[in-house]
Amino acid sequence: MSSIDRADPVILGHVLAEHRELFGQMQAVRAAYAAEGPPTRDGVAEIVTTLRSLREHLRSHFAQEEEGGFMEESIARMPRLAAQATAILSQHPVLLVQLDRLIDSTLSGGMTAAAWVAHRERFAGFAAQVQAHERSENAVLQDGYNEDLGLVD
Ligand SMILES: [Fe+2]
Ligand SMILES: [Fe+2]
Repeated sequence: MSSIDRADPVILGHVLAEHRELFGQMQAVRAAYAAEGPPTRDGVAEIVTTLRSLREHLRSHFAQEEEGGFMEESIARMPRLAAQATAILSQHPVLLVQLDRLIDSTLSGGMTAAAWVAHRERFAGFAAQVQAHERSENAVLQDGYNEDLGLVD
């Protein structure tokens, strides 16, 4: 295996480790959302704290992905992945705006039981989108690399 090939699993390993960390952050937010009824003032504060932490993590994760060395190798190996990679990266600002709106709506406080249910559903919808986003990134990486690394089950 050449030295260029040896660098590839490092990039791949870094991204997959980042995605695992992101999953942990999402779990922390889910735990903060565990309350059945509308949260207390402390509960709201905890939700806002975990959402802001998630926001910072996502921002830096997205920036790293956009700065390169991430999907380029997959695209270089398999040019047909370029359009898919561009579409995936274009989701970053949309996801951040959605999270900002979610944080703003949490801060507006004074939640009724119905508003709380709706708010939880909004977070669940956002979480599902982030999960789908990360899954599609993993798929591009796997498509680009599996020829050499045999990552497909
Ligand atoms: Fe991403
Ligand atoms: Fe990602």
